[in-house]
Order: sequence, then structure tokens, then C-alpha cells
Amino acid sequence: MRFTLATSIVALAVLAVAAPQPTGQRIGMAIPITKRSSLVNADKSVDFDALKSHVAAGKAKIRQGFTTYEKNTGMKHPSDVGGVERRGAGEPLTDDQSQLWYGSISVGTPAQSFTVDFDTGSSDLFLPGSRCDSSCKGHTIWDPSSSSTSKDLGKSFSLAYGDKSTVSGEQYNDTVSIAGFSATTQTLGAANTYSSGFQSSQFPADGLMGMAFQSISSYGASPVFQTLVSDGSVSDPVFSFKLSSSGAELYIGGSNSALYAGDFTYSLVMHQGFWEVKMDNVKGNGETILTNVNAIIDTGATLIIGIPSDVSTLYNALGGTAAPSAGQGYYTFPCSSFPSISLTFGGKSFPIAASALNLGPVSSGSSDCVSGLVGQDTGSSFWTVGDVFLQGVYTAFDVGNTQVGFAKLA
Ligand SMILES: *[C@@H]1O[C@H](CO)[C@@H](O)[C@H](O)[C@H]1NC(C)=O
Repeated sequence: MRFTLATSIVALAVLAVAAPQPTGQRIGMAIPITKRSSLVNADKSVDFDALKSHVAAGKAKIRQGFTTYEKNTGMKHPSDVGGVERRGAGEPLTDDQSQLWYGSISVGTPAQSFTVDFDTGSSDLFLPGSRCDSSCKGHTIWDPSSSSTSKDLGKSFSLAYGDKSTVSGEQYNDTVSIAGFSATTQTLGAANTYSSGFQSSQFPADGLMGMAFQSISSYGASPVFQTLVSDGSVSDPVFSFKLSSSGAELYIGGSNSALYAGDFTYSLVMHQGFWEVKMDNVKGNGETILTNVNAIIDTGATLIIGIPSDVSTLYNALGGTAAPSAGQGYYTFPCSSFPSISLTFGGKSFPIAASALNLGPVSSGSSDCVSGLVGQDTGSSFWTVGDVFLQGVYTAFDVGNTQVGFAKLA
């Protein structure tokens, strides 16, 4: 009935669709991915603490990206408008990974398997390291000293996932393989401390793999997919996601033509950092309400987070009710009559299913439901487009041509 946000753990059985070729360069490969999310309470009503933690973690991630971009390039990120505290008043103290898509990679020699969250909103890979304190308990631990190919870079790292909440440790180079493709000299972090949002009670994957651009890598190093391309391991410099509750997968080295229908429409990346593109417009009930909005396409985000004034304009037009008890920027509609909202990219409009937009009742038994498109100041001039939209489309991240393609799901 209600979609995947209502489930705590959805195991998705997915198949590898393409076998490795015996000789020469291989074509793409799919790996199964699994979704975990927990933005609703046991009674299916929206868990606002979880929602707010998620939004706070999203803001911290964007701030981390901007800070790193400036450090790496010597320039302020063009979409950084600043002015946002790491954490607003009243936001819960835990950081959060309430929703994530994760799958398997292997690291080192001999190869050891780990699960990681695939996140197109950041660019670094980290795993719990062998020197990690109790914060890594319950995860599979990576011991670089047991890998004959690991190289200690003698550099530390620290990633902010909320106020005073960091993942920190040491940087190494080692072989990293995904879907059978190998990056032989990949920089990754062995964490000595995990912030609360990454602890095994909250975060089922062992680590996180960033899939955005090098300019927001806090290691200042090539992200895994870009290394696969520069090593010549992957010939088609594209990776693609189907993030749907039926048959989710990450495809490395192209797109899986069985999973989408028709052609892709592409939007060029505006600044190589995040996967930031122009969204032509936002439509509500068939009318164009907002035009020329910038957006980052973020598989590590659950919600669609818009600039507050844009979102207020949108909901004024659609008759959404502000839900101040839930917090600034949250809106409700009658559960039985959600508006149809669509996002237009590359000239083509993609609808958001009401079942995806509707997060659940504002409180137990209420007939008012919370929208998954919220207005929040993230200190950026872009929207964050996450799972609420992405679960309804097939998405290609084209590193070679620095563009994002969307197609209808098959
Ligand atoms: C580690 O890997 C990076 C590529 O990501 C490379 O530039 C660097 O030279 C490597 N360092 C060592 C010590 O191998």
C-alpha cells in the first residue's frame, strides 16, 4: 500500500544483468542495492525528529561540500549563499542517515567485502578502520595492515555530518572494486571515529561511497568512479540508478536499457562539485509555478528540499497548509488529495507520484498528510532533489559529458 518510506528494511533481490565479457573491455555491470529508511513511526505517522535530523544532516553535507570546494579550488562555490548555521535551534542532536541506498564493494588484497551507501551528494569513500573506537561496533572493519596493496598516506581526514558530529580517521590508497571493475590506486578513509548517524544501530551499511566530483572531495582525490574511468577499467563513463522499491540497482559503466523506456533527456552540470543542474520548471496540477530553479541530484537525500520562498509560492498556488507544529517549511495536504507536482529537466516533465510525495499522516490517525517536498534554507542557491523524486525515474550520471539524464522507468 504505502510506499517504501513506511518500511524499515526493504530487501530487494536484484540480479546482475550483464556477465563479464571473456576478453577485452567489459560492458557495464549492475549491482543490487537495498534501501533502508525510517522516517515514519510504527503507526505510519511521520517521525518529525527523524525528518528534521535528516534535513539537518543534508544541510551539513552541503556545507561540508562548499567548504571543501573552496579549499580545493581557492574559490567560493558559486551556489554558496552562506548564512546557515550547522544546526538550527531545536533540531535533534543526533545526526542522521534515515534513508540510504547501499550495496557491496570490495577493498584490498585479498579483497574484502563491505557495504556502502552510494551518495551522489559527496565525493569521498570511507570505511570503519581497525583503530576505530566503539562507535564502529557492529560494522565490518577494514584493517589496512592486512591488505598487501594498502598504502598509508600519512594524512588524516575529518568529515562533518552535523554539529560536533564527525567521521574522522586516516587516509590510505588501496584497490577498490565495484561490480567487478577495479580502481587500483584509490584514496579512501579508514575511520577512527564514527558519528552517531553512522553507527550500526542507525546505519546498516559499513561505509559511504561518494559519487560526485573531485572538487568536493575532502581528500582532494579522485572519487571511485572517476578512478575507474581514468584507469580504463570502465569504458563508458556513466553510472545509472534505478531507485525504485521494485528492482533497485546501480549500473556501473552505462545504463541498463531494460530498466528505462524512451530516451534520456539531459541537463548539463553547472558547476562540477555536486551534480548540480538547471531544473526548467516546477509544475503543480499542470500549471507552471516556478521556473529556472537550480537543483542538485542527490541519491543520499530522501526528500526534495527547496528554497523556502520557492516552496511557499508553490504551496500557495496548490493550497498546501503550512504545518508550523511540524516546523517551518513543512506543509500538509488532505491525505486523500495530494496535488500532482512534476519537475522538468531538459525540457521534459517528470511527475512525482502522490504515493512518493505523501510521507504519511502528520500525527497518528490524522487525515492531513505531510509533503516530502519541503522548504529549508540550506545556505545554497539550489534545491536538493532526493529519493521522493528519484524513485520515479531512471537516472544516468554521465561523468564523461558532465550531465545528468532522466528517463521514464520501463
Ligand atoms: C594515492 O592515490 C592517488 C590517486 O587517487 C595518487 O595521486 C597518489 O599518488 C597515491 N599516493 C601514493 C603514495 O601512492
